[in-house]
Amino acid sequence: MKEESNLKINLGRRHFLRLSSLWCAACAAGNGNAIAAALTSERMVDAGPIGNFSHDGVHDKFRGLGFFVIRRQGKLLALSAVCTHKKCKLAAETDGSFYCDCHGSTFDPSGKVTEGPAKRDLPFLSTRVNEHGHLLVRVPAE
Ligand code: FES
Repeated sequence: MKEESNLKINLGRRHFLRLSSLWCAACAAGNGNAIAAALTSERMVDAGPIGNFSHDGVHDKFRGLGFFVIRRQGKLLALSAVCTHKKCKLAAETDGSFYCDCHGSTFDPSGKVTEGPAKRDLPFLSTRVNEHGHLLVRVPAE
């Protein structure tokens, strides 16, 4: 009876090793980026047509997804909307600065910390415009 139990364990282990080797083969075949992206949950968010951001200022429609779209002198930027202290979502103030409701950190319009407890500035996120004229924002895992 005990041998039967060991056999089940060995079969399971063999199966696990086979799955592991398939996983590594997928990495070697160039699917490592997709696997890494899935593991980190980094994603590209389509923020829509760039024409939707026709006026300078902070557009907070994507705050819930972790970023603000900022238009300055016709240039579009994406600034993280996640507080660098303990990851609460920030609120955009009317003067272009940002406020964290959780512990009171503040950031100036370029994302620099103006009041703690946050110590790190907000990062700008990578963006690009696709062939349809949509703004794509690379949002890191939270
Ligand atoms: S999470 Fe923003 S100040 Fe603490």
